[in-house]
Amino acid sequence: MKTNQSTESLINISEVRKNAMQSLAQGAVTDDYPLNLKEACLLLNNALASEILCVLRYRHHQIAAKGIDFPQVAAEFKEHALSEEMHVMMIAERINQLGGDADFNPVSIAQRSATEYGQVGDLLSMIKDDLIAERVAIDVYRKLVQWFGAGDPTTRRMLEGILEDEEKHANELCDLLTKVSRH
Ligand SMILES: [Fe+2]
Ligand SMILES: [Fe+2]
Repeated sequence: MKTNQSTESLINISEVRKNAMQSLAQGAVTDDYPLNLKEACLLLNNALASEILCVLRYRHHQIAAKGIDFPQVAAEFKEHALSEEMHVMMIAERINQLGGDADFNPVSIAQRSATEYGQVGDLLSMIKDDLIAERVAIDVYRKLVQWFGAGDPTTRRMLEGILEDEEKHANELCDLLTKVSRH
């Protein structure tokens, strides 16, 4: 058959089958995984720490904004917290698929995170802190997308999806900043 012939010229199927049967414990990670697995998991664990910190900061801001009686801003903080929580689980699951251990250790989260927890101030300063954190995240995810590149398209696509969310968050915070400044 034509398809099989062209596949055989590109890939040595018997070799691939032989490799697939070895190291079964590695699950989704096959012998031809071209990146440094340890480094891949380390980078993802640092991204995981940033996401956990973002959840904590948004939840803190959500509660504080409620006290300031600005329901629209509190609702936005809550929505972003939910989105960051999804990112936490996406990244943790991918680390697990790559054979790594998703690091939820609270002791090292702040050190490993690219973003900062900050402090609770007035509404404007909270929105500004979150916007800065989103912009840091955008920069980091763009670099991670490049690093995973064609070597690990599954992780890269996941990171691209998260990057898209962070850009949306930054845009929403920017609009909110203008609105609250005018108030
Ligand atoms: Fe996120
Ligand atoms: Fe975000």
